[in-house]
Amino acid sequence: MDLKTQIDLSRLPRHIAVIMDGNGRWAKKHGKMRIFGHQNGVKAVRETTEAAAELGVEYLTLYAFSTENWGRPASEVNALMTLLVTTIRKELKTLTDNNIRLQAIGDIQNLPEKCYKELLEAIELTKNHTRMTLVLALNYSARWEITQAASNIAAAVKNDQLDIQSITDQVFENHLSTAGMPDPELLIRTSGETRISNFLLWQIAYAELYFTPIFWPEFRKQHLYEAILNFQQRERRFGKISEQVQK
Ligand code: IPE
Ligand code: IPE
Ligand code: MG
Repeated sequence: MDLKTQIDLSRLPRHIAVIMDGNGRWAKKHGKMRIFGHQNGVKAVRETTEAAAELGVEYLTLYAFSTENWGRPASEVNALMTLLVTTIRKELKTLTDNNIRLQAIGDIQNLPEKCYKELLEAIELTKNHTRMTLVLALNYSARWEITQAASNIAAAVKNDQLDIQSITDQVFENHLSTAGMPDPELLIRTSGETRISNFLLWQIAYAELYFTPIFWPEFRKQHLYEAILNFQQRERRFGKISEQVQK
């Protein structure tokens, strides 16, 4: 049965976020070094991006490197940064061919210079693309982002640009790196881990969480369709009761 045709396109999540996990374990399972898993994760990125764009998803956010990931062995961190540069360079054509805009969230200025430059260039070159926005979370952590927002809001209050009374949910959101994007409605994590690992803590307040045992390098279009179909079977109540949300 073709899963794609079962998806109700009128009820697609506008924003899907993915914690791409399990590269290392997948490599180990195949008797290879961890970096082999990261390299093979690139195909999953391509497939997921393509599938999301083909369906009409507006935003796809991929968690690619957390602030905590700096704590890994230097050889793995370096290999990941190199892979990032080569992948952005190589995939630029795919992004352009598919009319996909690239954006990034996280402390990207503190990435190695080469990565930062490559990233900015790709963001600039794709900025007018309109089909879908692919957001890479790089050197990202939600606590970093929230602290950053709080600090910027405090500075605005101090400089008399903002009243304390006017600090609302919306004002706070405008200071996050996801300002202007809809909140993710569906959050997928691969590899069987069922935790959030400091990802989008503010934005996923009402996201539907979907965990799959598939390791990221094995994730294909099919798996994205499964996640979306699962999402479409859920009743999202937002604090109300079933009878109120059923139409
Ligand atoms: C996810 O895979 C990729 C990154 C965190 C960069 P992992 O590298 O975490 O793989 P596992 O979890 O060790 O299998
Ligand atoms: C989360 O995966 C970060 C990314 C996918 C980039 P990790 O593998 O770093 O998460 P933990 O350490 O298992 O929670
Ligand atoms: Mg992991």
